[in-house]
Amino acid sequence: MAGLFISFEGIDGAGKSTHIEGLAQAFRAAGRQVTLTREPGGTPLAEKLRALVLNDAMDAMTEALLVFAARRDHLQQLIEPALARGDVVLCDRFTDATFAYQGMGRGFDLETLSVLERWVQAQPGTTSLRQPELTVWFDLDPTIAAERLAGARVPDKFEAQPVEFFRRVAAGYGARMDEEPRRFARIDAAQSRGAVWQDVLQAVQARGWLA
Ligand code: TYD
Repeated sequence: MAGLFISFEGIDGAGKSTHIEGLAQAFRAAGRQVTLTREPGGTPLAEKLRALVLNDAMDAMTEALLVFAARRDHLQQLIEPALARGDVVLCDRFTDATFAYQGMGRGFDLETLSVLERWVQAQPGTTSLRQPELTVWFDLDPTIAAERLAGARVPDKFEAQPVEFFRRVAAGYGARMDEEPRRFARIDAAQSRGAVWQDVLQAVQARGWLA
């Protein structure tokens, strides 16, 4: 069976976690092997880089280089072997998050991010890049997301950002979807949890990956 790579995106507080877990269960119930992972992170090295990126102050370029370094290790050590085995790889965030957070959120040069993307996601012997086959984008108004996050836990560096930051991040996701509309499924994350789940399932079923 061919591997399948799905990523999940959205601003902090958009509520993607429970649905990623639900989708993992649905794929397992359908007899698929699932690799559930996240970015930054997913390998011992990338998890160390995650702790730095989420907690330490640094300039936007350093942040971009660290998330792409983490991504390189993650692809080589975990994602590519899992896809080669035929796993369904469900990844909580991938490169769209870098364009949204480091690019639009922090204002780092998008062209440079595209260069890093081409380096890190190059597929040997081809001209194509490793990209998710589907990106589920949980789109939520930043004001609602902030209300959901308030008091939930101690905020990390990004969660502590003002609403304006998340407006730019959300616009960044929109721009990525405009560039590659077929890769994206935009979910209205303001709906009830049940309605969001139905939309997530529908996005996967529509591609013939779950009955
Ligand atoms: P998140 O995925 O929301 O995990 P948790 O639910 O544990 O908080 O946290 C990851 C944070 O990292 C999130 O605020 C977005 C940020 N991030 C970037 O800034 N750039 C990236 O390339 C990635 C993958 C994440």
